[in-house]
Amino acid sequence: MKTNSNKMKDRILVTGGTGYIGSHTVVELQNAGYEVIIVDNLSNSSADVVDSIEKITGIRPAFEKNDCCDYNALDEIFKRYSGIKAIIHFAASKAVGESVQKPLLYYRNNILSLINLLDLIQVHKVEGFVFSSSCTVYGQPDKLPVAEDAPFKKAESPYGNTKKINEDILRDTVHSGAPINVIMLRYFNPIGSHPSALIGELPNGVPQNLIPYLTQTAMGIRPMLKVFGDDYNTPDGSCIRDYINVVDLAKAHVTAVHRLVDKKQKNKIEAFNLGTGNGVSVLGLIHAFEKATGVKLNYEIADRRAGDIEQIWANPEYANNELGWKAETSIEDTLLSAWNWQKKLRERGIM
Ligand code: UFG
Repeated sequence: MKTNSNKMKDRILVTGGTGYIGSHTVVELQNAGYEVIIVDNLSNSSADVVDSIEKITGIRPAFEKNDCCDYNALDEIFKRYSGIKAIIHFAASKAVGESVQKPLLYYRNNILSLINLLDLIQVHKVEGFVFSSSCTVYGQPDKLPVAEDAPFKKAESPYGNTKKINEDILRDTVHSGAPINVIMLRYFNPIGSHPSALIGELPNGVPQNLIPYLTQTAMGIRPMLKVFGDDYNTPDGSCIRDYINVVDLAKAHVTAVHRLVDKKQKNKIEAFNLGTGNGVSVLGLIHAFEKATGVKLNYEIADRRAGDIEQIWANPEYANNELGWKAETSIEDTLLSAWNWQKKLRERGIM
Protein backbone atom coordinates (compact mmCIF):
# COMPACT_ATOMS: atom_id res chain seq x y z
CA MET A 1 0.00 0.00 0.00
CA LYS A 2 1.34 3.44 -0.96
CA THR A 3 1.91 5.85 1.86
CA ASN A 4 0.54 9.35 1.81
CA SER A 5 2.95 12.04 0.73
CA ASN A 6 3.71 14.80 3.20
CA LYS A 7 1.50 17.23 1.34
CA MET A 8 -2.03 17.15 2.70
CA LYS A 9 -4.31 15.72 0.07
CA ASP A 10 -7.67 17.32 -0.60
CA ARG A 11 -10.48 15.15 0.74
CA ILE A 12 -13.35 14.24 -1.55
CA LEU A 13 -16.44 12.38 -0.38
CA VAL A 14 -17.96 10.11 -3.01
CA THR A 15 -21.47 8.75 -2.41
CA GLY A 16 -22.19 5.63 -4.43
CA GLY A 17 -18.43 5.13 -4.76
CA THR A 18 -18.61 1.33 -5.03
CA GLY A 19 -21.07 1.51 -7.94
CA TYR A 20 -20.28 1.39 -11.64
CA ILE A 21 -19.43 5.02 -12.44
CA GLY A 22 -18.53 5.76 -8.81
CA SER A 23 -15.80 3.13 -8.60
CA HIS A 24 -14.17 4.27 -11.85
CA THR A 25 -14.26 7.84 -10.55
CA VAL A 26 -12.66 6.90 -7.22
CA VAL A 27 -9.78 5.33 -9.17
CA GLU A 28 -9.25 8.50 -11.22
CA LEU A 29 -9.53 10.77 -8.17
CA GLN A 30 -6.88 8.74 -6.34
CA ASN A 31 -4.68 8.71 -9.44
CA ALA A 32 -5.00 12.51 -9.47
CA GLY A 33 -3.83 12.71 -5.84
CA TYR A 34 -7.11 13.20 -3.96
CA GLU A 35 -7.98 11.40 -0.73
CA VAL A 36 -11.32 9.67 -1.13
CA ILE A 37 -13.99 8.67 1.34
CA ILE A 38 -16.65 6.40 -0.12
CA VAL A 39 -20.16 6.33 1.33
CA ASP A 40 -22.32 3.56 -0.12
CA ASN A 41 -25.17 1.44 1.26
CA LEU A 42 -24.15 -1.47 -1.04
CA SER A 43 -27.73 -1.78 -2.26
CA ASN A 44 -26.48 -2.36 -5.81
CA SER A 45 -22.77 -3.03 -5.36
CA SER A 46 -20.32 -4.99 -3.27
CA ALA A 47 -17.68 -4.08 -0.70
CA ASP A 48 -15.14 -6.13 -2.74
CA VAL A 49 -14.99 -3.17 -5.11
CA VAL A 50 -12.92 -1.37 -2.45
CA ASP A 51 -10.30 -4.17 -2.72
CA SER A 52 -10.30 -3.83 -6.51
CA ILE A 53 -9.80 -0.06 -6.28
CA GLU A 54 -6.84 -0.70 -3.98
CA LYS A 55 -5.42 -3.25 -6.45
CA ILE A 56 -5.61 -0.75 -9.30
CA THR A 57 -4.32 2.35 -7.52
CA GLY A 58 -2.28 0.95 -4.62
CA ILE A 59 -4.36 3.09 -2.28
CA ARG A 60 -7.29 1.90 -0.18
CA PRO A 61 -10.04 4.54 -0.02
CA ALA A 62 -11.89 4.97 3.27
CA PHE A 63 -15.20 3.17 3.08
CA GLU A 64 -18.32 3.89 5.14
CA LYS A 65 -21.32 1.63 4.64
CA ASN A 66 -24.15 4.06 5.00
CA ASP A 67 -27.39 5.13 3.42
CA CYS A 68 -27.55 8.78 2.36
CA CYS A 69 -31.18 8.85 3.51
CA ASP A 70 -29.89 8.45 7.10
CA TYR A 71 -29.19 12.05 8.10
CA ASN A 72 -27.66 11.32 11.53
CA ALA A 73 -25.28 8.66 10.27
CA LEU A 74 -24.16 10.98 7.47
CA ASP A 75 -23.65 13.77 9.97
CA GLU A 76 -21.31 11.49 11.95
CA ILE A 77 -19.29 10.79 8.81
CA PHE A 78 -18.88 14.51 8.12
CA LYS A 79 -17.74 14.98 11.74
CA ARG A 80 -15.26 12.12 11.49
CA TYR A 81 -13.71 13.30 8.21
CA SER A 82 -13.27 16.99 8.67
CA GLY A 83 -12.22 19.40 5.95
CA ILE A 84 -13.91 17.69 3.00
CA LYS A 85 -13.35 19.89 -0.07
CA ALA A 86 -16.06 18.56 -2.33
CA ILE A 87 -18.67 15.87 -2.73
CA ILE A 88 -19.53 13.82 -5.75
CA HIS A 89 -23.04 12.47 -5.35
CA PHE A 90 -23.63 9.29 -7.36
CA ALA A 91 -25.72 7.32 -4.86
CA ALA A 92 -29.16 6.84 -6.40
CA SER A 93 -31.55 4.20 -7.63
CA LYS A 94 -31.26 4.07 -11.42
CA ALA A 95 -33.37 1.39 -13.08
CA VAL A 96 -35.92 3.04 -15.34
CA GLY A 97 -38.34 0.06 -15.39
CA GLU A 98 -38.19 -0.52 -11.63
CA SER A 99 -38.93 3.14 -11.03
CA VAL A 100 -42.25 2.75 -12.82
CA GLN A 101 -43.13 -0.15 -10.48
CA LYS A 102 -41.81 1.48 -7.29
CA PRO A 103 -42.04 5.26 -7.71
CA LEU A 104 -41.98 6.01 -3.98
CA LEU A 105 -38.74 4.09 -3.51
CA TYR A 106 -37.21 6.24 -6.25
CA TYR A 107 -38.58 9.55 -5.01
CA ARG A 108 -37.52 8.74 -1.43
CA ASN A 109 -34.01 7.48 -2.22
CA ASN A 110 -33.09 9.99 -4.87
CA ILE A 111 -34.62 13.10 -3.38
CA LEU A 112 -34.16 12.59 0.35
CA SER A 113 -30.48 11.73 -0.08
CA LEU A 114 -29.86 14.96 -2.00
CA ILE A 115 -31.72 17.07 0.57
CA ASN A 116 -29.75 15.49 3.41
CA LEU A 117 -26.46 16.17 1.67
CA LEU A 118 -27.34 19.75 0.81
CA ASP A 119 -28.26 20.41 4.44
CA LEU A 120 -25.16 18.73 5.80
CA ILE A 121 -22.61 20.28 3.48
CA GLN A 122 -23.74 23.67 4.72
CA VAL A 123 -23.46 22.58 8.37
CA HIS A 124 -19.97 21.22 7.70
CA LYS A 125 -18.90 24.00 5.33
CA VAL A 126 -18.23 21.89 2.27
CA GLU A 127 -18.49 24.18 -0.74
CA GLY A 128 -18.14 21.96 -3.78
CA PHE A 129 -20.87 19.66 -5.05
CA VAL A 130 -20.77 17.53 -8.20
CA PHE A 131 -24.07 15.97 -9.15
CA SER A 132 -24.60 12.87 -11.27
CA SER A 133 -27.27 13.95 -13.70
CA SER A 134 -28.39 12.44 -16.96
CA CYS A 135 -29.34 13.28 -20.53
CA THR A 136 -32.69 11.85 -19.51
CA VAL A 137 -33.58 15.42 -18.41
CA TYR A 138 -33.86 16.41 -22.10
CA GLY A 139 -36.41 13.71 -23.04
CA GLN A 140 -36.55 13.54 -26.88
CA PRO A 141 -34.87 16.80 -27.91
CA ASP A 142 -36.23 18.77 -30.85
CA LYS A 143 -32.72 19.57 -32.02
CA LEU A 144 -29.73 17.22 -32.26
CA PRO A 145 -27.03 17.17 -31.10
CA VAL A 146 -28.48 18.41 -27.82
CA ALA A 147 -26.79 21.27 -25.97
CA GLU A 148 -27.10 22.24 -22.30
CA ASP A 149 -29.60 25.01 -22.94
CA ALA A 150 -32.15 22.73 -24.63
CA PRO A 151 -35.55 22.82 -22.94
CA PHE A 152 -36.42 19.93 -20.63
CA LYS A 153 -39.25 17.66 -21.76
CA LYS A 154 -41.64 15.62 -19.66
CA ALA A 155 -39.74 12.80 -17.93
CA GLU A 156 -40.40 9.32 -19.35
CA SER A 157 -40.19 7.62 -15.93
CA PRO A 158 -40.15 8.37 -12.19
CA TYR A 159 -36.38 7.78 -12.34
CA GLY A 160 -36.00 10.45 -15.01
CA ASN A 161 -38.24 12.74 -13.04
CA THR A 162 -36.03 12.38 -9.95
CA LYS A 163 -33.06 13.67 -11.99
CA LYS A 164 -35.07 16.68 -13.13
CA ILE A 165 -36.30 17.37 -9.60
CA ASN A 166 -32.75 16.94 -8.25
CA GLU A 167 -31.51 19.57 -10.72
CA ASP A 168 -34.34 21.91 -9.65
CA ILE A 169 -33.48 21.41 -5.98
CA LEU A 170 -29.85 22.25 -6.70
CA ARG A 171 -30.76 25.37 -8.72
CA ASP A 172 -33.21 26.59 -6.06
CA THR A 173 -30.68 25.99 -3.27
CA VAL A 174 -27.94 27.92 -5.06
CA HIS A 175 -30.35 30.73 -5.96
CA SER A 176 -31.41 30.99 -2.30
CA GLY A 177 -27.86 32.14 -1.55
CA ALA A 178 -26.56 28.90 -0.02
CA PRO A 179 -22.73 29.05 0.16
CA ILE A 180 -22.19 26.16 -2.25
CA ASN A 181 -20.88 25.71 -5.77
CA VAL A 182 -22.46 23.06 -7.95
CA ILE A 183 -21.53 21.27 -11.14
CA MET A 184 -24.19 19.04 -12.68
CA LEU A 185 -22.81 16.48 -15.09
CA ARG A 186 -25.34 15.14 -17.57
CA TYR A 187 -24.19 11.71 -18.67
CA PHE A 188 -25.15 10.17 -21.96
CA ASN A 189 -24.79 6.33 -22.07
CA PRO A 190 -21.73 5.19 -20.08
CA ILE A 191 -20.34 1.81 -21.15
CA GLY A 192 -17.14 -0.23 -20.87
CA SER A 193 -14.79 -0.97 -18.01
CA HIS A 194 -11.46 -0.07 -16.54
CA PRO A 195 -8.64 -1.50 -18.73
CA SER A 196 -7.50 -3.67 -15.79
CA ALA A 197 -10.89 -5.46 -15.92
CA LEU A 198 -10.87 -5.30 -12.12
CA ILE A 199 -13.93 -3.04 -11.92
CA GLY A 200 -16.91 -2.73 -14.24
CA GLU A 201 -20.66 -2.86 -14.51
CA LEU A 202 -22.27 -5.70 -12.59
CA PRO A 203 -26.05 -5.38 -12.56
CA ASN A 204 -28.16 -7.48 -10.22
CA GLY A 205 -30.25 -10.11 -12.02
CA VAL A 206 -31.23 -9.78 -15.67
CA PRO A 207 -29.57 -6.68 -17.12
CA GLN A 208 -31.84 -3.91 -18.35
CA ASN A 209 -29.14 -1.98 -20.20
CA LEU A 210 -27.81 -2.85 -23.60
CA ILE A 211 -24.13 -3.55 -22.96
CA PRO A 212 -24.37 -5.94 -20.00
CA TYR A 213 -27.14 -7.80 -21.83
CA LEU A 214 -25.02 -7.90 -24.99
CA THR A 215 -21.86 -9.18 -23.27
CA GLN A 216 -23.85 -11.77 -21.29
CA THR A 217 -25.37 -12.98 -24.58
CA ALA A 218 -21.91 -13.15 -26.16
CA MET A 219 -20.81 -15.24 -23.16
CA GLY A 220 -23.76 -17.62 -23.60
CA ILE A 221 -25.43 -16.61 -20.32
CA ARG A 222 -28.44 -15.26 -22.27
CA PRO A 223 -29.57 -17.03 -25.46
CA MET A 224 -30.46 -13.97 -27.50
CA LEU A 225 -30.20 -10.19 -27.43
CA LYS A 226 -33.41 -8.46 -28.38
CA VAL A 227 -33.07 -5.26 -30.39
CA PHE A 228 -35.97 -3.15 -29.22
CA GLY A 229 -37.42 -1.86 -32.48
CA ASP A 230 -36.12 -1.43 -36.05
CA ASP A 231 -38.90 0.85 -37.25
CA TYR A 232 -37.72 4.13 -35.73
CA ASN A 233 -37.09 7.16 -37.89
CA THR A 234 -33.31 6.55 -37.96
CA PRO A 235 -31.04 5.35 -40.82
CA ASP A 236 -31.20 1.65 -39.81
CA GLY A 237 -34.46 1.89 -37.84
CA SER A 238 -32.91 1.19 -34.39
CA CYS A 239 -32.54 3.77 -31.60
CA ILE A 240 -29.52 6.02 -31.44
CA ARG A 241 -27.49 6.88 -28.32
CA ASP A 242 -24.21 8.53 -27.44
CA TYR A 243 -22.14 5.78 -25.81
CA ILE A 244 -19.36 7.16 -23.66
CA ASN A 245 -16.41 5.28 -22.16
CA VAL A 246 -16.75 5.05 -18.39
CA VAL A 247 -13.10 5.91 -17.70
CA ASP A 248 -13.40 9.03 -19.86
CA LEU A 249 -16.55 9.85 -17.93
CA ALA A 250 -14.78 9.28 -14.61
CA LYS A 251 -12.03 11.69 -15.65
CA ALA A 252 -14.62 14.41 -16.25
CA HIS A 253 -15.43 14.23 -12.54
CA VAL A 254 -11.80 14.86 -11.64
CA THR A 255 -11.82 17.88 -13.95
CA ALA A 256 -15.03 19.10 -12.30
CA VAL A 257 -13.51 18.69 -8.83
CA HIS A 258 -10.38 20.63 -9.90
CA ARG A 259 -12.68 23.37 -11.19
CA LEU A 260 -14.50 23.58 -7.85
CA VAL A 261 -11.41 23.36 -5.67
CA ASP A 262 -9.55 25.92 -7.80
CA LYS A 263 -12.64 28.18 -7.87
CA LYS A 264 -12.64 28.36 -11.66
CA GLN A 265 -16.42 28.33 -12.09
CA LYS A 266 -18.18 30.92 -14.21
CA ASN A 267 -21.42 30.50 -12.27
CA LYS A 268 -22.25 29.04 -8.87
CA ILE A 269 -24.20 26.34 -10.65
CA GLU A 270 -23.16 24.88 -13.99
CA ALA A 271 -24.28 21.98 -16.18
CA PHE A 272 -22.19 20.06 -18.70
CA ASN A 273 -23.10 17.39 -21.24
CA LEU A 274 -20.79 14.41 -21.03
CA GLY A 275 -20.94 12.59 -24.32
CA THR A 276 -18.79 11.94 -27.37
CA GLY A 277 -20.89 13.90 -29.85
CA ASN A 278 -21.42 10.73 -31.93
CA GLY A 279 -24.73 8.95 -32.20
CA VAL A 280 -24.54 5.16 -32.66
CA SER A 281 -27.53 2.93 -33.35
CA VAL A 282 -28.23 -0.30 -31.48
CA LEU A 283 -27.50 -2.31 -34.65
CA GLY A 284 -24.39 -0.23 -35.26
CA LEU A 285 -23.16 -1.00 -31.76
CA ILE A 286 -23.77 -4.72 -32.21
CA HIS A 287 -21.72 -4.71 -35.41
CA ALA A 288 -18.96 -2.66 -33.77
CA PHE A 289 -18.86 -5.21 -30.92
CA GLU A 290 -18.58 -8.12 -33.34
CA LYS A 291 -15.80 -6.37 -35.23
CA ALA A 292 -13.85 -5.33 -32.11
CA THR A 293 -14.03 -8.72 -30.38
CA GLY A 294 -14.41 -11.20 -33.23
CA VAL A 295 -17.37 -12.71 -31.35
CA LYS A 296 -20.59 -13.36 -33.28
CA LEU A 297 -23.69 -12.24 -31.43
CA ASN A 298 -27.12 -13.88 -31.42
CA TYR A 299 -29.72 -11.17 -31.79
CA GLU A 300 -33.20 -10.68 -33.12
CA ILE A 301 -35.44 -7.71 -33.76
CA ALA A 302 -38.15 -7.36 -31.13
CA ASP A 303 -40.94 -4.89 -30.35
CA ARG A 304 -40.12 -1.38 -29.25
CA ARG A 305 -39.51 -0.93 -25.51
CA ALA A 306 -41.98 1.38 -23.80
CA GLY A 307 -40.51 4.71 -22.77
CA ASP A 308 -37.50 4.61 -25.12
CA ILE A 309 -36.32 7.84 -26.68
CA GLU A 310 -35.80 7.47 -30.44
CA GLN A 311 -32.49 9.24 -30.74
CA ILE A 312 -30.21 11.41 -28.67
CA TRP A 313 -26.60 12.41 -28.77
CA ALA A 314 -24.64 15.19 -27.14
CA ASN A 315 -23.26 18.45 -28.27
CA PRO A 316 -20.20 18.22 -25.97
CA GLU A 317 -18.65 21.53 -27.09
CA TYR A 318 -19.31 23.34 -23.84
CA ALA A 319 -17.71 20.53 -21.83
CA ASN A 320 -14.81 20.40 -24.32
CA ASN A 321 -14.14 24.14 -24.31
CA GLU A 322 -15.22 25.36 -20.89
CA LEU A 323 -14.60 22.33 -18.67
CA GLY A 324 -11.55 21.34 -20.70
CA TRP A 325 -12.56 17.71 -20.98
CA LYS A 326 -13.08 15.51 -24.02
CA ALA A 327 -14.08 11.87 -24.52
CA GLU A 328 -11.05 10.14 -26.01
CA THR A 329 -11.48 6.38 -26.14
CA SER A 330 -12.73 4.80 -29.36
CA ILE A 331 -15.94 2.81 -29.37
CA GLU A 332 -13.94 -0.30 -30.39
CA ASP A 333 -11.61 -0.06 -27.37
CA THR A 334 -14.58 0.65 -25.13
CA LEU A 335 -16.48 -2.41 -26.37
CA LEU A 336 -13.36 -4.51 -26.00
CA SER A 337 -13.02 -3.36 -22.39
CA ALA A 338 -16.65 -4.36 -21.72
CA TRP A 339 -15.94 -7.78 -23.20
CA ASN A 340 -12.72 -8.19 -21.16
CA TRP A 341 -14.68 -7.38 -18.01
CA GLN A 342 -17.29 -10.02 -18.90
CA LYS A 343 -14.52 -12.57 -19.49
CA LYS A 344 -12.94 -11.67 -16.15
CA LEU A 345 -16.28 -12.21 -14.39
CA ARG A 346 -16.38 -15.69 -15.92
CA GLU A 347 -12.80 -16.42 -14.79
CA ARG A 348 -13.73 -15.34 -11.28
CA GLY A 349 -16.80 -17.62 -11.42
CA ILE A 350 -19.18 -14.69 -10.91
CA MET A 351 -21.05 -14.77 -14.24
N1 UFG B 1 -31.70 -1.96 -25.94
C1 UFG B 1 -31.99 -3.06 -26.71
N2 UFG B 1 -31.99 -4.28 -26.12
C2 UFG B 1 -31.72 -4.46 -24.79
C3 UFG B 1 -31.42 -3.31 -24.01
C4 UFG B 1 -31.44 -2.07 -24.61
O1 UFG B 1 -32.25 -2.96 -27.93
O2 UFG B 1 -31.74 -5.59 -24.30
C5 UFG B 1 -31.68 -0.64 -26.58
C6 UFG B 1 -32.68 0.35 -25.98
O3 UFG B 1 -33.93 0.19 -26.58
C7 UFG B 1 -32.00 1.68 -26.30
C8 UFG B 1 -30.51 1.35 -26.25
O4 UFG B 1 -30.42 -0.07 -26.37
O5 UFG B 1 -32.32 2.06 -27.59
C9 UFG B 1 -29.85 1.78 -24.96
O6 UFG B 1 -30.61 1.27 -23.88
P1 UFG B 1 -30.10 1.27 -22.37
O7 UFG B 1 -31.15 0.62 -21.55
O8 UFG B 1 -28.71 0.71 -22.30
O9 UFG B 1 -29.97 2.81 -22.04
P2 UFG B 1 -31.07 3.96 -22.08
O10 UFG B 1 -30.63 4.89 -23.16
O11 UFG B 1 -32.43 3.46 -22.15
O12 UFG B 1 -30.96 4.55 -20.63
C10 UFG B 1 -29.74 4.90 -20.08
C11 UFG B 1 -29.73 4.59 -18.60
C12 UFG B 1 -30.69 5.44 -17.87
C13 UFG B 1 -30.52 6.88 -18.23
C14 UFG B 1 -30.56 7.06 -19.72
C15 UFG B 1 -30.29 8.46 -20.11
O13 UFG B 1 -30.06 3.25 -18.39
O14 UFG B 1 -30.45 5.26 -16.51
O15 UFG B 1 -29.57 6.23 -20.30
O16 UFG B 1 -29.27 8.95 -19.33
F1 UFG B 1 -31.51 7.63 -17.73
